[in-house]
Amino acid sequence: LAARDAPAPLAGKHVLITAGPTHEPIDPVRYIANRSSGKQGFAIAGALARLGARVTLVAGPVALPTPLGVTRVDVETAREMAAAVDAALPADAAVMVAAVADWRAKGAAPQKIKKDGSGGTPTLRLAENPDILATLAKGDRRPRLVIGFAAETEQVIDHATAKRARKGADWIVANDVSGDVMGGDANTIHIVTADGVESWEKLPKDAVADRLATRIADALD
Ligand code: CTP
Ligand code: CA
Repeated sequence: LAARDAPAPLAGKHVLITAGPTHEPIDPVRYIANRSSGKQGFAIAGALARLGARVTLVAGPVALPTPLGVTRVDVETAREMAAAVDAALPADAAVMVAAVADWRAKGAAPQKIKKDGSGGTPTLRLAENPDILATLAKGDRRPRLVIGFAAETEQVIDHATAKRARKGADWIVANDVSGDVMGGDANTIHIVTADGVESWEKLPKDAVADRLATRIADALD
């Protein structure tokens, strides 16, 4: 058979991806967020679609075009992201690239909080958001392959290894963000699996995406 007649490696597979930050409202004009451009997650979604997967991309607020062949669900908060992930199941694999805000403001104000209000400087009370990755990995509709991301500023491998165990993920893709990679176009990553750690050289985010998509296809084969 000619190569163009060979079936795509991920044909018939559904892959679920989260990407971007979440925004947690404080009032109608202010929010808590994580730093995330969404570029790496969107690149992974596109790479998986090119390998023939059906891709559902649950995206927080980002300024990026939807990759070709990808079904995109836009959300704003962590709780909306958790609901969208649940609604997209079942999936063969999940890649949780989103930088989910760990906390939300308890009881967001319905009106804009005014500086000249009677309360003086306001105090934010926080509530913990659901852990979307851990919920998925420990749930009864768990995809066969569950991959988490971990942006770390120190002890990158140790933190990623602990996260893998704590969350029940198959792989944790760790990247060192102690420099200024946030929003940049390259990533240096380490993949922590049950078999150990695989470190890749610094690569453009598109190259990381292509290589990771191929590795996912091999794992699902
Ligand atoms: N994640 C998630 N839901 C959350 C928090 C994190 O799904 N509420 C996912 C992220 O998408 C990522 C992985 O969990 O794939 C690791 O996120 P990270 O923020 O590094 O982990 P935390 O457990 O929140 O640890 P930390 O204290 O370092 O923020
Ligand atoms: Ca976190």
